[in-house]
Amino acid sequence: MPHLFDPFVLKDVTLRNRIAVSPMCQYMSDQGAANAWHQIHYGSLARGGAGLVVVEATAVAPEGRISWADAGLWNDQQAAALEPIVQEIKRWGAVPGIQLAHAGRKASANRPWEGDDHIPEGQPNSWTTIAPSAIPYGANLSRVPQAMSIEDIARVQADMASAVQRAKDVGFEWLQLHFAHGYLAQNFWSPKSNHRQDLYGGNAQNRGRYLLETLAAARKVWPENKPLTARMGVIDFDGDDETMLSESIDLLKVMKAQGLDSVDVSMGFNTPNANVPWGPNLLEDIAARVLRETQLPGSTSWFIHGPTAADRMIREGKIDLAMIGRPLLSDPHWPYHAAKELQLEDAAWKTLPAPYAHWLKAYR
Ligand SMILES: Cc1cc2nc3c(=O)[nH]c(=O)nc-3n(C[C@H](O)[C@H](O)[C@H](O)COP(=O)(O)O)c2cc1C
Repeated sequence: MPHLFDPFVLKDVTLRNRIAVSPMCQYMSDQGAANAWHQIHYGSLARGGAGLVVVEATAVAPEGRISWADAGLWNDQQAAALEPIVQEIKRWGAVPGIQLAHAGRKASANRPWEGDDHIPEGQPNSWTTIAPSAIPYGANLSRVPQAMSIEDIARVQADMASAVQRAKDVGFEWLQLHFAHGYLAQNFWSPKSNHRQDLYGGNAQNRGRYLLETLAAARKVWPENKPLTARMGVIDFDGDDETMLSESIDLLKVMKAQGLDSVDVSMGFNTPNANVPWGPNLLEDIAARVLRETQLPGSTSWFIHGPTAADRMIREGKIDLAMIGRPLLSDPHWPYHAAKELQLEDAAWKTLPAPYAHWLKAYR
């Protein structure tokens, strides 16, 4: 079985190791466009030695941003601003990926460190939110979204296709569709937020329709030889978890048949009543089950308990990639320390750019 520092090949893309930077919103964009912050942030993560850097949730339409400062890819200026970031990630040997998203009923919120709550309609930096049904999330995000018409659905899917085209044009090599975390796709998937009576609501087949159509729209534009992946919220920890999990597995099997190359297993975050069993490696067994039953390559994140746990999960064949989030914010050189901890001396030096490796080798 491979280990954390073995390369990973999917389609025509090779990652130098199995450490992936999990997408993390920075809430620092200017009208959706990346700037110097993103250049430094993503550059240092790539320079830190991860195999894959997935750029944060990037909205396919203005109303699909979580906050006014989110990244977007609905116009050419935003694409142009991402291009140097893609180059920077590649320059340091990582593969540039991007997560494309629509925040659905969780959109139009303050930034996390400025309240993390909905901004009331009519106030600056707020807008009308949309979702499958006019059902609010609740708690700090209590605004009632507008139920989407069939035309709205088609429009957001067309926006997704345009954003995929731009992502491809600026050189991203790994695409992740955001089908998790209580955002628009998850709003369709969950019976808690989808009470539609038409073809997009009701049984699992209908609730999955929006996701399958979105995948198809992306597949048409995204190159066949590059990974098309999704982050899927397979469990809410609120009520009938087994039904949601087994329905999600069935939906992923259909997605696989329709061109999905890999899945990142995550949670629903679609209800404020979730009782998530926070703790080390909390999604390990769920991810292993999803990957085993769907036969999709994939990954997970959430409190992976350090390099040894990430390495073990890969060696045991439970996941193919470890998606690492906060540990990389606290230390972009997490891969270097991981290799050291795993006593993979050669791998450790390879994570560092020459101007660092030279001195650390000389004076160790
Ligand atoms: C600052 C921050 C921003 C995040 N933004 C996103 C995002 O844009 N898309 C997403 O799918 N998950 C997002 N997440 C979740 C992370 O991708 C990751 O799954 C989570 O932090 C758990 O991994 P960790 O325990 O290694 O941090 C975010 C997390 C953090 C801390």
